[in-house]
Amino acid sequence: MTKFNKRFVILVRFITDFLTAMHPMLNIAVRAARNAGDLIRRSSENVGQLTINQKSINDFATEIDRAAEQEIINVIRGSYPDHAILAEESGAHEGNDYQWIIDPLDGTTNFLHGFPMYAVSIALKHKGKLEVGVIYDPQRDELFTAERGGGAMLNNRKIRVTRQVSLKGALIGTGFPFKKQQHLDAYLGMFKELFTDSAGIRRAGSAALDLAYLAAGRLDGFWEIGLKEWDIAAGVLLVQEAGGAVTDFSFKEDYLHSGNIIAGNPKMHQLIYKAIEPHVTDSLR
Ligand code: IPD
Ligand code: CA
Ligand code: CA
Repeated sequence: MTKFNKRFVILVRFITDFLTAMHPMLNIAVRAARNAGDLIRRSSENVGQLTINQKSINDFATEIDRAAEQEIINVIRGSYPDHAILAEESGAHEGNDYQWIIDPLDGTTNFLHGFPMYAVSIALKHKGKLEVGVIYDPQRDELFTAERGGGAMLNNRKIRVTRQVSLKGALIGTGFPFKKQQHLDAYLGMFKELFTDSAGIRRAGSAALDLAYLAAGRLDGFWEIGLKEWDIAAGVLLVQEAGGAVTDFSFKEDYLHSGNIIAGNPKMHQLIYKAIEPHVTDSLR
């Protein structure tokens, strides 16, 4: 690299860091995610003493989910008292055109078993458009961030989706429809198709981390049935800003609402869509 190029790269980095640091809402999301993550990491040593309540079939929450959520809300409210909030444990809080979407602990079942794949997920929408997304893995201290038009980062380094162009050799993430077992047959059809053609399928237990890993090029694709908006809002922006494509099972953009999602680099997204399409029932469209 010539002296001029080096100086140019340093200048670009400086400007990028400066602009990133200047996005106040991203900064707030990062602060909230780190605070909640610290709380979760400290509590992970005493999971045996936690009170677990079952919200529905295979759906659990602990006082840590609620405390982490309260911490996130306090940080957001401290700077933006008028913003609306949609949070997994406490529901919808009214506000203006900005809405924060919070999953304080994505992967609670893993957390309860000491299986270290869980994360804090925070997204911000403005007039329905995703603007900011943060996913924080407290066990690995990995901070995934994205802002619309600004790219996606892992610990402040740019990340991109993979260049994989075939199912052969691809590693694909998924989640089982354990809360919506009426879709099990359709899901197993999709699974069989992708299992046969790909290099492997991973079910790690945190949809937020699955999407963050896809954005970081650790997975080539991802699909799941019946997720909630807070599971995927931040991850969707990360994937898009890392150059990936996201749709629902009708190739449309209703994934935040339906919770049925296909994501990947643009080619892998297409290939996964093609593979699962024959198994998509009317109620999944
Ligand atoms: C769960 C995780 C999991 C997915 C479930 C989600 P939670 O979130 O994202 O990977 O398969 O559907 O509910 O309940 O641990 O926040
Ligand atoms: Ca979740
Ligand atoms: Ca959760």
